[in-house]
Amino acid sequence: MSLMQPNYTQTPPAVPNVMVIFGAGGDLTRRKLIPALLHLCNARLLPDSFAVLGLGRAEMDDAAFRDLMAEPVREHVGAAFDQSIWDRLVARLHYMRIDIHEGAEYERLRERLRELDSRRGTGGNYLFYTAIPPSLFAKVTGFLGAAGLLRETGNRWRRVVVEKPFGQDLDSATALNRELHRHMDERQIYRIDHYLGKETVQNIMVFRFANGFIEPLWNRHHIDHVQLTVSESVGVEHRGTYYEEAGALRDMIANHLLVLLGFIAMEPPNSFESSALHDEVDKVLDAIEPLSPEDVLRHAVRGQYGAGTLPDGERVTAYRASPGVDPQSRTETFAALKLRMDNWRWAGVPFYLRTGKRLATQHTEIAIQFKRAPKVMFKNTDVNHVDPDMLVLRIQPAEGIQMSFGAKIPGPAMRIGAVNMDFCYEDYFGNKPATGYETLIYDCMHGDATLYKHADTIEKGWRIVQSVMDVWAAMPPRDFPNYAAGSWGPKAADQLLRNDRRQWRRIPDTDGTETSTVREGLYTESRKPQS
Ligand code: BG6
Repeated sequence: MSLMQPNYTQTPPAVPNVMVIFGAGGDLTRRKLIPALLHLCNARLLPDSFAVLGLGRAEMDDAAFRDLMAEPVREHVGAAFDQSIWDRLVARLHYMRIDIHEGAEYERLRERLRELDSRRGTGGNYLFYTAIPPSLFAKVTGFLGAAGLLRETGNRWRRVVVEKPFGQDLDSATALNRELHRHMDERQIYRIDHYLGKETVQNIMVFRFANGFIEPLWNRHHIDHVQLTVSESVGVEHRGTYYEEAGALRDMIANHLLVLLGFIAMEPPNSFESSALHDEVDKVLDAIEPLSPEDVLRHAVRGQYGAGTLPDGERVTAYRASPGVDPQSRTETFAALKLRMDNWRWAGVPFYLRTGKRLATQHTEIAIQFKRAPKVMFKNTDVNHVDPDMLVLRIQPAEGIQMSFGAKIPGPAMRIGAVNMDFCYEDYFGNKPATGYETLIYDCMHGDATLYKHADTIEKGWRIVQSVMDVWAAMPPRDFPNYAAGSWGPKAADQLLRNDRRQWRRIPDTDGTETSTVREGLYTESRKPQS
């Protein structure tokens, strides 16, 4: 099992295979998949007998596909780009034009794969990756099945990685599961959520379960509430057509944010075995209290960005002006929810989730606010207020863990200031660039589905957001766009917490200017750290 591999040095390379990417010309291939393969290649985790076969609508040959990938991959990998590693990978990239709507085309695909097998020694093992619109998953799998490409014999394996969103809602997800099972066994299906592949997401479990001091505090007796923020400064880029159908709730909350929530709220699994882990996450999802239509009106907030200015001064256009987007679009690019859990550990502890495009900064974190200490012993001092402590698990960027608490401000008076204790991954483990897809792709090549989602988990996720989708669909938004690009989202999202006499944690700017005031204005006194 791949979970928590300390580093890649003792890990054997994957077994020979061809990775077939449907949607090779798309954003995901450029931004995540090929960069992830590059990182795997760098870590010597790709086998020598390996090939990528990109499939797309455009007419081009292998050489043109390699050229097409080079620039965007260089851009997404950034400073870690190494030409010699790229040279090694690029020689294994191939391309085939295909009309994926035509069954006969899959016969050609089978021939091409046979040819690659004999040229590259890939042994008939195929990993099919569906980087295509979700509405095509079932169709493509059907054609693969009909062409015999999903049939496994001897040691030869055939696996399909199904991208998210898995369906559009509960009914379509159930139907998709049924459809996939018509053509292959459950063990051949890999439902991906790349947040499960992120080191820092996996580290939530290590932090909680490998350290004795945390668990006793991890419950309703000590925790006041939890905030999950996945903020993106990017807009919808070239994905307008996809995003119009998805929106923030389907694109991010039904999957990535629920993964974070599952890891934060789960009971300790009996082991890190796949089934133990999945069972515990499923129990968390089961415990989330269903939202009635009234709850949705009070506890769910949606938003869409208008034109605005990003913190670096760049002027950007509104969502409705993006390519592929309806100029009257009602799709939400921001969503916030308050969820409650009906179980022993978390009764009465709200979980606030928010995510959005074109927010002020790119940042993913989980902030756990502890209950405040009684002020009793400071009653005759200058301390008029004792604030709660906060633990922040930073998922990206600047991955790390921060504890903020009160400390005495030096001087004759008893005053308390907010200070931080900060652990940065980079300081301890260096900066290993990763997209989150590396581990998952590698695991699939090894037949390890621990970090992939089960059908049940996906359906439970849809069940949670379904009530919100229903109410939102019945009541079209009247105030879109309701937040400016570069801001922190609609005012209603702030009000959501204010109604509970709370506020969102102030997220540091990307330029690193961070004061020690984690919750500005809440502490008696706060100061910037001395340089
Ligand atoms: C994808 C969503 O699943 O996750 C995108 O479809 C989003 O809209 C992306 O930008 C965020 O992933 P990451 O790894 O950049 O946080």
